[in-house]
Parts: sequence; C-alpha cells; structure tokens
Amino acid sequence: MLAFSLLAMAVSEEIDTLLITYHIHITNNLPLESPANDVPTLRLHCRSKDDDLGERAMFVGDDYTWNAKVNVLRTTLFSCNAQWTKGKQRHFDAFTASRDEERCQKYHNSCMWSVRRDGIYFSNNNSTWINEYPW
Ligand SMILES: *[C@@H]1O[C@H](CO)[C@@H](O)[C@H](O)[C@H]1NC(C)=O
Ligand SMILES: *[C@@H]1O[C@H](CO)[C@@H](O)[C@H](O)[C@H]1NC(C)=O
Repeated sequence: MLAFSLLAMAVSEEIDTLLITYHIHITNNLPLESPANDVPTLRLHCRSKDDDLGERAMFVGDDYTWNAKVNVLRTTLFSCNAQWTKGKQRHFDAFTASRDEERCQKYHNSCMWSVRRDGIYFSNNNSTWINEYPW
C-alpha cells in the first residue's frame, strides 16, 4: 500500500502540464443595476493568437468558461477585454502559461476570475480572491 502510494506520487509528478486541460472561468459579480437583472452589465471579449472567442454580453451571475491547454512552447495566452456598462474598461490576461500553468493546478485545474465593482479578481482555490486588475 505504501509502495503503491509512493509510486503513484512519483508518477503524478511526472505528468506533464501539456496534458492538462485548464478551465478558465470568468464570472460577472458586478453590482446589479436593476432588480430584474434584465440588462447585461459586462461585455467580455477574449482571444488567443489562434482563437477568437467572440464578444459576449453577461448578466450579473453569469459564468463564462472555456478550456485551454498549454502549447509545446508554453506561449499559450488568452487575453480579454472587459467593459462594464458604468464606463470602466480593462484589458487582462485570463490565462498565460508562464504565470498560470502551476498556480491553476490547485483546484480542478481552474483559473477563476470574478469581475467586481473595483476590479477583476483572481482565485486559484475558489476561496481567496485577489484584485489583480483594478479598473
Ligand atoms: C466556486 O464556489 C461557488 C460557490 O460555492 C460555486 O457556485 C462555484 O461553482 C465554484 N466554482 C468552481 C469553478 O468550482
Ligand atoms: C486559498 O489560497 C490562498 C492563497 O494562496 C491561501 O492563503 C488560502 O489558505 C487558500 N484557502 C483554501 C481554503 O485552500
């Protein structure tokens, strides 16, 4: 049993991050503009060099998720433009291999972003959030 655990640990450390499918989440946690939540308050446009994910209009509470893999050269980069209807606009990197391949392995291989009143917050464990991109 111990031998098996040690072997499993050794093998899991060998697994290359190139095999990992990362999940990138972006949630609209801006304040509600109307109680009915009938207006999308966030416009989000994400793209990589090869993939244009298109522009989307997000209501409060909406979560937009896509998957990404790290390329062989480890240059994978998805950047986004976020525009809040209150006139705020911010460009941010939602996934960049050099910064995220390790830190986003902690929780279901997820990079989580929460768009809020004062900026765009990151979490890699869905518990502690840091404002990495103030508006
Ligand atoms: C993070 O936690 C919230 C609240 O518990 C939950 O709704 C959400 O699905 C979680 N996100 C992920 C990516 O697991
Ligand atoms: C979440 O991550 C933060 C920052 O790395 C850490 O301080 C905190 O203890 C973690 N929380 C949990 C529940 O793992």
